[in-house]
Amino acid sequence: MELPYAEPFKIKMVEHIKKSTREERERWIREARYNLFNLSSNKVFIDLLTDSGTGAMSDKQWAELMLGDESYAGASSYYKLKQTIQDIFGFNYFLPTHQGRAAENVLFSVLVKEGNIIPGNSHFDTTKGHIEFRKAIPIDCTIDEAFNTTQYHPFKGNVSLEKLEKVLVEHQHNIPFIIITLTNNTAGGQPVSMENLREVRRLANRFNKQVIFDSARFAENAYFIKTREKGYEHRTIREIVKEMFSYADAMTMSSKKDGIVNIGGFIATHSEELFKQATIYNIMFEGYITYGGMAGRDMNALAQGLQESTTFEYLESRIRQVHYLGKKLIEYGIPIQEPIGGHAVFVDALKFFPHIPQSEYVAQVLAVELYIESGVRGVEIGTLLADRDPITGQDRYPKLEMVRLAIPRRVYTNNHMDYVAVALKNIFDRRNEIKRGFKITYEAPILRHFTVELERL
Ligand code: F0G
Repeated sequence: MELPYAEPFKIKMVEHIKKSTREERERWIREARYNLFNLSSNKVFIDLLTDSGTGAMSDKQWAELMLGDESYAGASSYYKLKQTIQDIFGFNYFLPTHQGRAAENVLFSVLVKEGNIIPGNSHFDTTKGHIEFRKAIPIDCTIDEAFNTTQYHPFKGNVSLEKLEKVLVEHQHNIPFIIITLTNNTAGGQPVSMENLREVRRLANRFNKQVIFDSARFAENAYFIKTREKGYEHRTIREIVKEMFSYADAMTMSSKKDGIVNIGGFIATHSEELFKQATIYNIMFEGYITYGGMAGRDMNALAQGLQESTTFEYLESRIRQVHYLGKKLIEYGIPIQEPIGGHAVFVDALKFFPHIPQSEYVAQVLAVELYIESGVRGVEIGTLLADRDPITGQDRYPKLEMVRLAIPRRVYTNNHMDYVAVALKNIFDRRNEIKRGFKITYEAPILRHFTVELERL
């Protein structure tokens, strides 16, 4: 008999999580005004709100914490991280920041001017936020296949070269850079192929534009290139990552994902000039060059985390678990974004509850039902998140209404995944009994999903 797959790690420390009753959860979510962000974590059994900063560090990472150098200037932890970034990504210049959006803030302070157009593949919310905050416009050039959840495409994160070229032609003199998000979080943790990165680079060269990678899940992207793209089967993850980043001028990084640390981020680039300009803002917003928003110990843990996340063994166990959950859901007939992404399973709420209109926040209905059923917390990626149009003030209805089940790295077992899958199946079996959604009773003028308050219709 062929031996089954098993994780390449064992557990040294455990953290208890608390079960609750359905009655308790019904009360808690009502008191939280049906907003899952308002729940304290001890009211959640399995927390799939995000894979960001929620991973488990290894024994080696914890050991690195003890070796952290907390010197204000010139700390050895800074040099250790600098060397690691150079080795893995090939960039000579780097600036630490406290997380990914801080890297965006610093870099965009240099590069983005009012009225600029910034094409990319489904910019992440904070990226979009930092662009729009500067009165510039992000343009989504993701391929159309990404918006059809049942159509198979191995690289649904790809940029449509036609769409990109059109934007480059039309706005030639107004584009400071192209931004590529690896993996494409918004489209469902979907990867971008090496071929696509190469072609984007070629187009960028033709128009003399810089290319920046938003790299939060770069290692997961490399895993998909290795396992899905012809010609890369025998290349190591490290070789693939090197080639990927050879097509970029600079990167922003949220280390809370593929850095496998709880906080941190950075900017890295080949350009001394860009580094010098960004340094000014980094010192202002984050901290001095050699720590910029991070403790020395955290830079050490990040250097070690990057070494671990760029191994095939780690990535295989990580993505296998996400796919384990996804396949269970498919088995139960539950509609999800296919192929399954790298960090999360995205449940298609419009197909799950076709009888509930988008105007009643259908993905939120499913997220709330899942919590009441099981104590599992996912997150709505739908109309609440999409927010109102800043000009018309009307709700913007996105093409997809999803509940994202993001899996923290090295935290839960497959028994937890089974539990999540059955909880969703139970709701799916009685989906016709759930007839109505929510109306908003309070919302903030921007980023409303974090604090929105809802009432059942
Ligand atoms: N870019 C991408 C692709 C992200 O997914 C995130 C964060 C960021 C940038 C910002 O990084 O949180 O460190 O400031 N995504 C989290 C999520 C919040 O849940 O997907 P940050």
